[in-house]
Amino acid sequence: MSTLFLTVLCAVLCCAYSDSHEENIETLMDNVLVLKVPYDLGSQQYVPLTCGEAYQNQPVFWKKDGMELNPPLQGNQVRVLVEEMRGGNFTCHLGPDGEYLNHTLILVQLDPDNRTVILEERSTEEGHIHCSAPNYKGAFDCTWTRSQSRSNAVVLLVKAERNLEKIACELNADGSGVHCEDISCPYKEEQYRISLTIYIHSYSRLEAYTKAFYLSEIVRPAKLSKLQISEGTVFTWNYPDSWETPGSFFGLEFQVKIVSLHNSCNSRDHIQNDITEKTSYEVTIKPKRYVFCVQARDKYTKGPWSPWSHCTVDKKQVTC
Ligand SMILES: *[C@@H]1O[C@H](CO)[C@@H](O)[C@H](O)[C@H]1NC(C)=O
Ligand SMILES: *[C@@H]1O[C@H](CO)[C@@H](O)[C@H](O)[C@H]1NC(C)=O
Ligand SMILES: *[C@@H]1O[C@H](CO)[C@@H](O)[C@H](O)[C@H]1NC(C)=O
Repeated sequence: MSTLFLTVLCAVLCCAYSDSHEENIETLMDNVLVLKVPYDLGSQQYVPLTCGEAYQNQPVFWKKDGMELNPPLQGNQVRVLVEEMRGGNFTCHLGPDGEYLNHTLILVQLDPDNRTVILEERSTEEGHIHCSAPNYKGAFDCTWTRSQSRSNAVVLLVKAERNLEKIACELNADGSGVHCEDISCPYKEEQYRISLTIYIHSYSRLEAYTKAFYLSEIVRPAKLSKLQISEGTVFTWNYPDSWETPGSFFGLEFQVKIVSLHNSCNSRDHIQNDITEKTSYEVTIKPKRYVFCVQARDKYTKGPWSPWSHCTVDKKQVTC
């Protein structure tokens, strides 16, 4: 009696156990299953695979990453044991060495996915993904860097949306960035953030990286155009060509910095440092040899600065 009870109890528990486990399996996209495993070594889980309804009455044989399994795995519906991070590409075939029918890629993601190794972190504030836009029209670019030991990693999927509205993105040829276009009205106040998620895998290890931002946080003006010297000591420049018009609505402010000859514009050692909203600046310093540097940012949002533009002044010799 008690043996029977234990057997029944065990059966119930085992069932409950395997059922709860299947909640860790998610279909990320066609032919791709993601198994979420807790961060502990020695995880083992069966994953159900189906070759396809079309092959219900066919002799179906499975291979893993192109290799036959030992013992052989047969049947349209099978279960495979995934140990730790060892997923793989399971293909089903008509007969032991027959024609390819279908496949399922099993990837493994840690849950929580907070010990990432595939992408390099740019900085604590910026995280792993860097995004930038040249203006408020809705186009933006995001880039990332694979860590050296995971340079083979492949981007599987990129999802971008704002308040559940999809944003179209195109992956670069080398998989290290995306170009996206948010076509919703660009001039309205941004109520919701854009959320971007990159799904990237190295062998069977899948990691998801998400970044959420307002366009106004990533708008970085391009380099200023037509920087030149006119009337002796007055420098002038134009708004970048890619910046919004009218400039009165999307105003820029400029940082002007004068540094010693052969110093870089980023140098902390400066002769003069000024902020202006005008597109001209009169230099009144005594030295006749210096570098005139200027960069721009949105004057309302105080977003990121543009790259520097500069002119080198060596007495009468001016190079911009
Ligand atoms: C191939 O497998 C996928 C699941 O990985 C399934 O959705 C699809 O229907 C299958 N294709 C056919 C032709 O049965
Ligand atoms: C998995 O195998 C199928 C069939 O050979 C192939 O088309 C697919 O590209 C493979 N996927 C990966 C990620 O290797
Ligand atoms: C990841 O999350 C788990 C559970 O929330 C936590 O215990 C662990 O410290 C986190 N690890 C890192 C590197 O943040």
